[in-house]
Amino acid sequence: MLNISFYQKSHDSKAAIAFICFENLLLSEEAQAFDQAHGGFLKRALDNNRFKGKKNETLMLTPPSDARSSRIVLLGLGKAEHLTIETLQHAGGTLVTALRPTPDTAVEIHAGSLAANRHKASDVAAHMAFGAQLRHWRFDKYRTTEEADKKPALQSLAVLLPEADLAHKTYEPLEQVAHGVCLARSLISEPPNVLYPASYAERLQELKSLGVKVEILGQEDLEKLGMNALLGVAQGSIREAKVVVLQWMNGPKDQKPLAFVGKGVTFDTGGISLKPSSGMGDMKYDMGGSAIVAGLIRALAGRKAKVNAVGVLGLVENMPSGSAQRPGDVVKSMSGQTIEIIDTDAEGRLVLADALWYAQDRFKPELMIDLATLTGAITFTFGNHYAGLFSNNDPLCAQLTKAGESVGECLWRLPLGEKYDREINSDIADVKNLGPRGKGGSITAAQFLLRFVNNVPWAHLDIAGVTWSEKGLPIADKGATGYGVQLLNQFVLEHYESKG
Ligand code: BES
Ligand code: MN
Ligand code: ZN
Repeated sequence: MLNISFYQKSHDSKAAIAFICFENLLLSEEAQAFDQAHGGFLKRALDNNRFKGKKNETLMLTPPSDARSSRIVLLGLGKAEHLTIETLQHAGGTLVTALRPTPDTAVEIHAGSLAANRHKASDVAAHMAFGAQLRHWRFDKYRTTEEADKKPALQSLAVLLPEADLAHKTYEPLEQVAHGVCLARSLISEPPNVLYPASYAERLQELKSLGVKVEILGQEDLEKLGMNALLGVAQGSIREAKVVVLQWMNGPKDQKPLAFVGKGVTFDTGGISLKPSSGMGDMKYDMGGSAIVAGLIRALAGRKAKVNAVGVLGLVENMPSGSAQRPGDVVKSMSGQTIEIIDTDAEGRLVLADALWYAQDRFKPELMIDLATLTGAITFTFGNHYAGLFSNNDPLCAQLTKAGESVGECLWRLPLGEKYDREINSDIADVKNLGPRGKGGSITAAQFLLRFVNNVPWAHLDIAGVTWSEKGLPIADKGATGYGVQLLNQFVLEHYESKG
């Protein structure tokens, strides 16, 4: 993690200097002071460059010889009146990206008393730092021969502003959210030979140190509970299935918990309905939903949120073998409903059917939200920029959509209804695990889940398109994004936390 601090004045005269600029705008007060102290250096640089201060625009300069700093970066924020939390986070991330190729180990952002568009200076500072922290994270534990001068050098970032103390207070809980996002990203990035249900469950024990209750259910427990839909998916693998239950119960005693349920397929080969080999390695991130749940609980516990929240993670590996489930099989789910398996590659819904039923049956939650890399079809619909939202509850949808917008993790609702529900009726069992091929695949998958929520207010987030970024994002290195942790943290914070 980046070492983040907030000061009123510079502490490190050798650190790289970042000045913030709004679009078409002159230099900030500090930048002007610097300019005057160095003979109009910045003004000349601006005159000779195309830098306009647009969003995510940077200008890197070598300082004049009388300055001690290694580098000067001008960082664009776009139009002041359009400034959003997302823009600020992106600016922090963009700064980290700009410094990547340099040997600089420290940077100071001169933020002044930068308040704009209803944002207090302290919020501006905290969210830039948060964005930088998120962009700084990188999965490098398996790189053993990377040359030292190719590794990112940056270690610390300070934001300088008069309201440094307030900014620090604002940032503290955000750092815990960053820990949650980065936990999710590391779990998602782990290769599937390292992260499988048992090792994954073991890894989650580390949450105990924050006061999270961690329970691991194994084969026998799951059999006793009758989770045969989940167990059916796992039966082709030599890796035993696990269900991990995380409890963060720090809210009022009489508050029903919020339940978060995650698909945790540590590798999805498709099973007997085998996937094509090209790109199959991507299916290590098919446990993304469960990782987001773990990351959320990490964030809530880290910032000691006054809320009751439980996470239920269904962990399995979907493999083809002599013991694997067949297309044509019928399994009896924990709910009692029987399921005809049409395609063993539509396994996520089978895992979630039992995990959702278990969550509502045991915890009688206020609401349930599940996250899953459930369908390839959702990527046809939204590409990589929105997650699909499905729900039986309008107010819940509105709350989630708004929380997502405010943190830049957008959701878009798709319909559910009887006409789709009919399409998953089976000829020989209560329900089948596949609707008509190539038609509304994300919707019929969600419709299947709805049969296992027992009328609890519920939302399903299909995150198959947003969990992994091929190219990287302003606040995420390429690979696992952690999409969903911030959104759900914001949702809990706005609507379900007792304050004070
Ligand atoms: N894990 C996949 C969905 C997926 C695809 C996630 C691409 C991330 C990226 C899911 O289990 C799956 O295999 N879905 C099938 C459903 C099909 C059998 C109806 C799909 O989307 O092709
Ligand atoms: Mn699958
Ligand atoms: Zn899958």
